[in-house]
Amino acid sequence: MRILEHPILGKLEERNKVTIEFDGKPVEAYEGEPIAAALMAAGFKVLRYTPKYNEPRGVFCAIGRCTDCMMIIDGAPNVRTCITPVKAGMKVETQHGRGYWK
Ligand code: FES
Repeated sequence: MRILEHPILGKLEERNKVTIEFDGKPVEAYEGEPIAAALMAAGFKVLRYTPKYNEPRGVFCAIGRCTDCMMIIDGAPNVRTCITPVKAGMKVETQHGRGYWK
């Protein structure tokens, strides 16, 4: 589910492969790609649960406008993962309800 050769970004294998932690599990990603894209490529589609009805949410707009992709990143809540780039070793957690600092 990844674009292997992009006319602007280049070939995927030329990018730096790193490992991030998603809810305690290691996930391989490419440095600089959006966190949400890395999780989707690894098969994870639910990124948060709504505060009122606890309904699952994933990527919707993918341009940083809707907030459906908010997650807890390195202890910081309400991070829009569709526009936040992957860094090696970052800790990514599913957000349940309103975000709270850890
Ligand atoms: S999917 Fe809409 S802000 Fe990320």
